[in-house]
Amino acid sequence: MILIVDFGSQYTEVLNRVVRESGAEVMVKLPGLFDMDELIEDERISGVILSGGPQSVYAEKAPTLNPKWLNGRRPVLGICYGMQLMAHLLGGTVAHGKNAEYGPAELIICGGNSDLIPTIHLQEQVWMSHGDHVEILPTGFSQIATSSDGLNAVIADSKRNLIGLQFHPEVVHTVHGKALIEHFVYEICGAKKSTETNKHAPKARAMLAEQLERLGKQSEVICALSGGVDSTVAATLVSEAMGEKLHCIFVDHGLLRKGEFESTLNLYRENLNLNVHPVNASEIFLERLVGVSDPEQKRKIIGKTFIDVFEQESKKYTSCKALVQGTIASDVIESSHSSANAQVIKSHHNVGGLPETMNLSLVEPLRHLFKDEVRALGRELGIPEDFIRRHPFPGPGLALRVLGEVTQDRLALLRDVDSVLIDQLKREGKYDAVWQAFAVLLPVKSVGVKGDGRSYDSVVALRCVGSRDGMTADWSKLPLEFLANVSRRITNEVAGISRVVYDITSKPPATIEWE
Ligand code: XMP
Repeated sequence: MILIVDFGSQYTEVLNRVVRESGAEVMVKLPGLFDMDELIEDERISGVILSGGPQSVYAEKAPTLNPKWLNGRRPVLGICYGMQLMAHLLGGTVAHGKNAEYGPAELIICGGNSDLIPTIHLQEQVWMSHGDHVEILPTGFSQIATSSDGLNAVIADSKRNLIGLQFHPEVVHTVHGKALIEHFVYEICGAKKSTETNKHAPKARAMLAEQLERLGKQSEVICALSGGVDSTVAATLVSEAMGEKLHCIFVDHGLLRKGEFESTLNLYRENLNLNVHPVNASEIFLERLVGVSDPEQKRKIIGKTFIDVFEQESKKYTSCKALVQGTIASDVIESSHSSANAQVIKSHHNVGGLPETMNLSLVEPLRHLFKDEVRALGRELGIPEDFIRRHPFPGPGLALRVLGEVTQDRLALLRDVDSVLIDQLKREGKYDAVWQAFAVLLPVKSVGVKGDGRSYDSVVALRCVGSRDGMTADWSKLPLEFLANVSRRITNEVAGISRVVYDITSKPPATIEWE
């Protein structure tokens, strides 16, 4: 098996999945919380991958590793922080660059022994996310590739089978990154493929059965539906096992897209046969958001209000002893509950919260799955394709896309713009070609001219990105013709918009949502 040492990278779960999906067995360990020295002699481990992490190797409490792991007994692949730590422990130096590198970068191959990574090609795109870099190589290492800024991007010691990569091969935006990892796992480490199937439903059902077993046969459970794919898949899975004993509460927080609450409720009832109870709570959410502009504050208020409304509603279902949540792997990672070394990027309200204030145990059948795996599971469970293919939508909804204060009027304006964008994508057959597309209402106004008059109206930004799992993303290079059409339609059809701009930032350094 392959040992992944998690130094707190945002991408550790992605790395775990890439290795797992390639067919190898994986063990993920956190240094610091676990004495890894015990594993040094473990014969089952055929190779080690050191993940990235947010720290600098010189930071006071920077996570580290026993240098015995690097003595050549088995191959080691160090990624980003993992590469820097490897160089640092073996006598090289790490420096803080003048220029950090985030997002796409090109490799420049500069010779050295590249047998260890034959899948890397000249000038191919890789994905970077770092401030520090390896400056002086440890003895035995040679430089194989640099970034276009001349920083060490690939280094290797072919005698000890040690490889360091400054970029992230695990993310989907590194072209051939998966092939590179597979080469490491199978050719260099000689790992064996395991025989488990790729179907998600049998595993998810088995995991759920275990969780339900602990609750006891007679229990009833409650579920909060958000209208998104994750909670819908979680509820459908649980409903398969429990039928009417699952009570789904679907709260309308007034922050969904145009017509979305009604159409989703219909799907729950007609197509999925869920035992669902709708609750209209939009007034209370909007009241509590009056005067609030700070993004984290918005998330906290929405999270708290959701808990209050849900708690109040759930009093009607006293026989329920557990709560079903559609938490998925990226929520867990980005909210930092998975790793002691990771940093909080955004506090997603669907992690934590409810179970702490209510006396309920938790059923989270999707916690180990990424968005695309959740979609695959949804298909296996028979959820209609149109719904499965809907773009991801954040729990706090349009509140994160109305920058500044969230008011009924501004929400209505954004809803109209958003529906034109989505409609145009569908008309031109481009909806499925982007991973997520939405509009953001900016807190600024700009001058325009309409007819013979001056206008002074709002600005919207359009955000369309490609991604596989939401962890990294690149802006979609949609045809200019499409952008021209959508901009013309928005300014013509939606009163109150003077200007449309297109967001051309990748993640990292930006996030997908603006807040
Ligand atoms: P970011 O903006 O973090 O988004 O790059 C990554 C993916 O997560 C969604 N997102 C959220 N989902 N609660 C959610 O349920 C949240 O608070 C939240 N914030 C972001 C986002 O839409 C994207 O798909």
